[in-house]
Amino acid sequence: MFSKFWTILALAAVNVNLVVAKSVVAHFMLDNSYAYTVGQWETDMKAAQQAGIDGFSLNWIPPDCNSPSRKWQVDRVDDAFEAAEDTGFKLMFSFDMSYTTCNTFWNTSYMTDMITKHAGSSATMRWNTNILVSTYAGDKNDAYGNQFFQDLKDSCKSEGHPISLAPALVSYAQSAQSSPEHSAAKMVSDYPSIDGYFNWQAWPLMEANMTCTADQAFKAALTKNGKTGPYIMAVSPWQYKDLNNGVSSDSWVAYSDTLFAQRLHTIANNEFSPDIIEVLTWNDFCESHYLRDLPSMTDESATDYVTYSNGMDNYVEGMNHAPWRVMAKYYLNWWKNGKAPVITMDQVVYWYRVHPKAATCYGGSSSKIKNQDYPTDAVFAWALVKDKATISVSVGDNQYWEFEADSSGPALSMVPFPEDLGSSGTAPEVSINRNNKVVQYSKGSMPITASCLE
Ligand SMILES: *[C@@H]1O[C@H](CO)[C@@H](O)[C@H](O)[C@H]1NC(C)=O
Ligand SMILES: *[C@@H]1O[C@H](CO)[C@@H](O)[C@H](O)[C@H]1NC(C)=O
Repeated sequence: MFSKFWTILALAAVNVNLVVAKSVVAHFMLDNSYAYTVGQWETDMKAAQQAGIDGFSLNWIPPDCNSPSRKWQVDRVDDAFEAAEDTGFKLMFSFDMSYTTCNTFWNTSYMTDMITKHAGSSATMRWNTNILVSTYAGDKNDAYGNQFFQDLKDSCKSEGHPISLAPALVSYAQSAQSSPEHSAAKMVSDYPSIDGYFNWQAWPLMEANMTCTADQAFKAALTKNGKTGPYIMAVSPWQYKDLNNGVSSDSWVAYSDTLFAQRLHTIANNEFSPDIIEVLTWNDFCESHYLRDLPSMTDESATDYVTYSNGMDNYVEGMNHAPWRVMAKYYLNWWKNGKAPVITMDQVVYWYRVHPKAATCYGGSSSKIKNQDYPTDAVFAWALVKDKATISVSVGDNQYWEFEADSSGPALSMVPFPEDLGSSGTAPEVSINRNNKVVQYSKGSMPITASCLE
C-alpha cells in the first residue's frame, strides 16, 4: 500500500517537470485587447489551453508612444493577470522595440516597474526561478542595444526580481536563414548580456519549406556560450499582409502552404526540440497568422471589438482560422508528452486562399505583393481519423480527389484549383468515407473566385 502511494507521487512529479520544461506560449497583440474584460481574457485563455498553449507573451509598444495614448494597456495587463491566476495560465512580457516612428522609447525604469509589479503573481512565467522576459526586436535601434538589456537586468535584480532575458533580435533571425552559424555566433557575441534567444523567423524567406537549421544554430550557440536562458522557437501557420495604404513595404506573403503541419511535426517527433515554443500568433489579424476566433468587427459593445484599419477587413473578414488550433493541439500534446495522442474522433482541417494568385484585385499597398508567386493555388487538407478512412476533396472540375488516412497519425494532401472557377466561384467540398459510406461532409464557407473586383 505504501509503495503504491509513492509510485503515484513519483509519476505525478515527473509529469509536473515535463510540463514545466516544455511550455508553449502564444504571441498576443495587446493592441487588440482594448475592449477586453477579465471574462474575455478568461475565454481566450481557456481556448488557448484547449489547444495546448500554456501562456501568452504580451506584445506592447510604450503606452505613450503614438497618439492616441495607449495608457489603457496597463489596465488590460492587470486584468490579464487576474484572469490568468483564475485560469492557471502564464503571462510574460514581449516589449515591442520596433517602433521608431515616435520619440518615446521603452526605458528600463518603466520596464522594471511593469515586470516587478506582477512578480508575486502565480501567473508570472518563469524560466527556472527567474522571471522570463522577451522582446520583439531591440536590435538595429540606437535607443537600445546590449547595454540597455544589461541595465534592465541589473535594475530588476536590484529590485529582488532577477529576470531571464530572451529577446527576439530579428535581424539575426533573418540572416540566419542563409547563414545560420555565423548569425548565431554574431548574435551571442554582440549581445553578451542576454540569457536566451527568441528566433522570430517562423516563415521561410524563400520559396522553400522551413528547416530547423537556424534553430539548431541558435540553440547550440547559447549552450556553447554557457547561457542559461531558454531557446524559444517560433511556429506559425501563415503570413500575409496587404494594407490599403499605398506603402509597398506593407505588402507580402510567405510560402506557408503546409508550413504549420510540417514544422509542428518536426518538433513533435523530436527532429528538433526547443525549450519553449512560441506560436505566432494568437491575435495578429493584420498579418493573417492568428489562431484566435475572429474578433467582433461591427459590434462596438463587444468585449473583443477590434477596429480594422487600412483595409485589413478585406482579407480578415470571414476568414476563420480557429481550426489551426485542432492541428496545434495534436502536435503540441505530442511534443509535451513524448508520444502521439490517441486519435479518438474523425477530423479534417482544410484551408485555401479565396482567389488564385493571378487574380486581379483593387487597392492594397502596391501592384505587386512581395513573394506573390510562392503560394500554390490549391486546397490543402490535413486528416486526423480514428480508423482507416478515405478522404475525398472536390473543387470545381477537380472532383473526388482521394487520399487515405488511418489512426497512425495525420495525413496531408492537396487538390489544385480548377482552371474554371465559374462566374460566382466554387467552394471546396470535403468528405470522410469509410466502408463506402460518407461519415462526415463539409463545404467551405467561402467560395474561391477568379477575381476580387466586385
Ligand atoms: C518611461 O516610459 C514610460 C512609458 O512609456 C513613460 O511614461 C515615461 O515618461 C518614460 N520615462 C522617461 C524618463 O523617459
Ligand atoms: C514542401 O513540402 C511539400 C510536402 O513534402 C512538397 O509537396 C512541396 O513541394 C515542398 N515545397 C517546396 C517549395 O519544396
